[in-house]
Amino acid sequence: MSVTEDTITDLLAGYLRDEGIRALTQISDTYPSGRSQPDWEIKSGGVFWGEAKWESSKWQGFGEARDYGQLPGASGSFLISYPDKLKQEGIQRGLTGDITESSLADYKYNCAFLRRDETTDMATLTLEEIPQWIKENTEERREAEADTDQVVDVLRQMARRLNEELQSAPEENLFRNVLGASTTDEEEAEAARETAGFLLINQITFYRVLSSNFEQFPELDADELDSPRDLSDYFERVLEKDYTPVFQFEIHDDLPQSSLDVLRDTIKSINGVSPERINHDVLGKVFHELIPKEARKKVAAYYTKNEAADILTHLAIDSADSRVIDPACGSGTLLASSYLRKKELLSTEFNAEVHDQFITNDLTGIDVMPFAAHLSCIHLALQAPIYETDEVNIGIADSTELRPGLSVNPLSFVLPESSEQRGLGDYSSGQSPDISEEKIEAGSTTLDAELGSTMELTTKDLVIMNPPFTRGESVARFSPDYKNKLKTRFDRRDQKGHLHGKMSYCSYFFFLADKFLEEGGRIAAVVPATVLNKKSDNGVRQMLVNEYDVEYVFAREDEPNYSEDTDLREVLIIARKDNTHDSDSGTAFVSHDGLDIDIDEIQTLAETTETGNSYNGNNFTLQKISLESLNVNNLFAPFLLTNRELNTCWEKLANGFELTNLESLDVGLIRGIGSNADGIMHVHPECSLNDPAAHTFGERDLFVLEEKSSDHVVARHRHTDETFTIPREDVAPNLRRYAGQKEMDLSDSLEYVVLNDNWDGAERYLELTDEDSIHYKWSDRVHKRRGHVALVRRVDLTAPGTHHLAYYSEENRLFNELLWVLPNATRQEGKILAAWFNSTFGWLQSFLYRVETRGAWLTWYRYIVKEYRVPRLSSLNEEDRERITSTFDDVKNAEAPSIYQQLALNTDPSELSEEQLNDIEEAYDGLTEILGGGFQSRRELDKAILDAGGVEQQDELLNELYRGLLYEIVSLKLMMD
Ligand SMILES: C[S@@+](CC[C@H](N)C(=O)[O-])C[C@H]1O[C@@H](n2cnc3c(N)ncnc32)[C@H](O)[C@@H]1O
Repeated sequence: MSVTEDTITDLLAGYLRDEGIRALTQISDTYPSGRSQPDWEIKSGGVFWGEAKWESSKWQGFGEARDYGQLPGASGSFLISYPDKLKQEGIQRGLTGDITESSLADYKYNCAFLRRDETTDMATLTLEEIPQWIKENTEERREAEADTDQVVDVLRQMARRLNEELQSAPEENLFRNVLGASTTDEEEAEAARETAGFLLINQITFYRVLSSNFEQFPELDADELDSPRDLSDYFERVLEKDYTPVFQFEIHDDLPQSSLDVLRDTIKSINGVSPERINHDVLGKVFHELIPKEARKKVAAYYTKNEAADILTHLAIDSADSRVIDPACGSGTLLASSYLRKKELLSTEFNAEVHDQFITNDLTGIDVMPFAAHLSCIHLALQAPIYETDEVNIGIADSTELRPGLSVNPLSFVLPESSEQRGLGDYSSGQSPDISEEKIEAGSTTLDAELGSTMELTTKDLVIMNPPFTRGESVARFSPDYKNKLKTRFDRRDQKGHLHGKMSYCSYFFFLADKFLEEGGRIAAVVPATVLNKKSDNGVRQMLVNEYDVEYVFAREDEPNYSEDTDLREVLIIARKDNTHDSDSGTAFVSHDGLDIDIDEIQTLAETTETGNSYNGNNFTLQKISLESLNVNNLFAPFLLTNRELNTCWEKLANGFELTNLESLDVGLIRGIGSNADGIMHVHPECSLNDPAAHTFGERDLFVLEEKSSDHVVARHRHTDETFTIPREDVAPNLRRYAGQKEMDLSDSLEYVVLNDNWDGAERYLELTDEDSIHYKWSDRVHKRRGHVALVRRVDLTAPGTHHLAYYSEENRLFNELLWVLPNATRQEGKILAAWFNSTFGWLQSFLYRVETRGAWLTWYRYIVKEYRVPRLSSLNEEDRERITSTFDDVKNAEAPSIYQQLALNTDPSELSEEQLNDIEEAYDGLTEILGGGFQSRRELDKAILDAGGVEQQDELLNELYRGLLYEIVSLKLMMD
């Protein structure tokens, strides 16, 4: 025997009677209740009939309880729903009788008290709390409370039930209503089927909210309906006013007549849960939360978290008059938050007029998906449902087509049936969407809807958005040549070189935002972090850095994202359009642990903190970075360090110099010569002359340098011992491997390459190699790639064989392909640059500019290296040049240990925590033993750089730098191992 609702009801009644409540069960059929009998009767301060239901079908219980409440003689009615687990427990125990009164105490119960013409009181209660709650409701008429979770639960149950009824509905209608287009994608189709019931629930719920506020909308009387189609009588009254995106979908038309009872129950239950009681901020969200996550994901609806929206609006809106647009508005979270922020900034009283001004003038939303527009519309209107709204500015369009001056109609323009492949992009670019009759599909659910009035697009004060990252996130069927269309739509950006074939879709939305802003206007966006450092999104960064003040960048430490249902790492960006860049007030980089942060405090700090400084607050760290130090290739860099103080170290140095980018020094930038890829004649191994003392030789390393003089070198074959005398002009110095090179200065290195084969003995020399001849262009190629200084291009920074990140050579030298050569730098420039890039500040910069490739291997691409910050050499005075070059000469031949050892030797162990010491030892066995042992050359070089920059308190700064960078390398090693 299984446990029934009656079993539990009887046990519960016994308990209630013990608590002094006159509760009867098994009510006789003398009660005129229509389709079912009440499960409960309580007589106390009136007569109250109640319904008992398992939790999974409580939605029906609301409808039934509501019916009892309408019976003559009823003072009110109630519903108690039992957890389905109780049923399972009973089954497990095998016998009904095994469920005892005491076992009821282990659960919680969803309870609702309904009173005629009043709102419903809802609560989730323990067994012990139920008697008191009943007494308060029957005897004292306690004030009704809303239980959002329960409402959502009930609405969700009803939507699922309606979806079952909609199984036979024409799919075309469902797809178009939800997605805006037909689909052949099975997952999308399924999502549309699953979402349709929710749309209908939204409509009935929203209607309920309206009818409880405005007399002109009569209460929806379920018993009056003769057919599902009759719902139109109610909805059309609203459409006459507005809310087109909410009511234009006539899903109810697709319900068969046999669904009438379910529809009636649904309406009664919705009226029974009194959704209008829920706090309006929350209610807006309820509409999208209703939809099951899986279905939401499939219709590409990734919603922005409320807290993220609030951070953006708080910092980006500074006036109650702000005009805001969200070009990818989804469910309207960002617009709703904008509404609240504007309201907060009002200096006058909030009233109907203000609400109307906000909704019909100040806030505009666009989304390509009708379903999203529907949610946004509800969400916004619900901000103050007690006030009427003439018009909600939510349009359905592909935003990339829009610009100020165009008009958008709030009604969906549905794709013609005959051309499923036609995408939104086919709607003539630059024109307002065509909503003429013939474009609106015959028989579509939109045909009878009011068109609503056209909205004129104008410039705004703020473009707020969480745009789709990829086109895949947009269910709209974009045409195959959509990318070309985008190119045309953003041709001005194209001309500036800001477009890139592989640019993220969301980047176009930045360019779109720019079209809507005048000087002083802002962009506030949630975007994937890759926008800050992906090469193909460089155009957006160029725009932001050159045409805007990037005011804030936020990243989370606890989780990667700011929107729901995505694992992508996201950031928040706020930027103000400012072509003049008159004042560099810097960018506040805020990293925070959790979303509970004090935005006011952050704002004050951002406004008062000097660039170069950082501040540790409660749950957050704020660093203020000057425009000068921003790395346009990686705006995410300030978040890369575990120790934010290191940025401050860099800023302190940067403040002492007039910095520029490496490219502007005109020292050239060319990749070293490849061992395999250069095709003509390889450096490796056939024409290489190796240092005889080299610690490793490969199988194909054939020659070593036996002797060198000012006019020739002597090469010896390692295996045959044959020797060759080669004129100096026919060889060039070379660096084959930087790993293990302990000196920064390679001037005395014994590695060379043979440049041509027109010297005596070359024939025999070549016979001994795999090559027949040396290509006639080889010498030329080699020549172009020689220089006095080279920077490491790819390195494992954590490896014991990595000693330096830059090398110098007195004679012009060739370098291997793992380095970047600066071929035009003079000797003096070479020394200064080698000193700069090999100073610990140079290492820090490289660490910050890194792109992680595989494991601990870091790579610096050309576009990154071009942007390296360096002192403007022409503005360094003679004294400073001399200071740097002479110190460089002093230290250049020092045998340096590996990078991490140099840092460890200069780190005082007493300044490290126990945990850090353990980490260091875990990463590098024995490294803690050399901590603080000293490596003077490093300190000398760094001090020379600091002296040139006029930076004071050098030891303090350097100690922090050594300790911090050592720990970063240790963390990188631990992470990669
Ligand atoms: C991440 S969601 C926005 C979420 C929204 N902020 C919220 O909290 O509900 C991105 C939205 O962009 C919409 N979208 C995609 N492509 C679009 C386009 N070309 N024009 C306008 N909207 C688009 C999607 O339908 C989706 O609703």
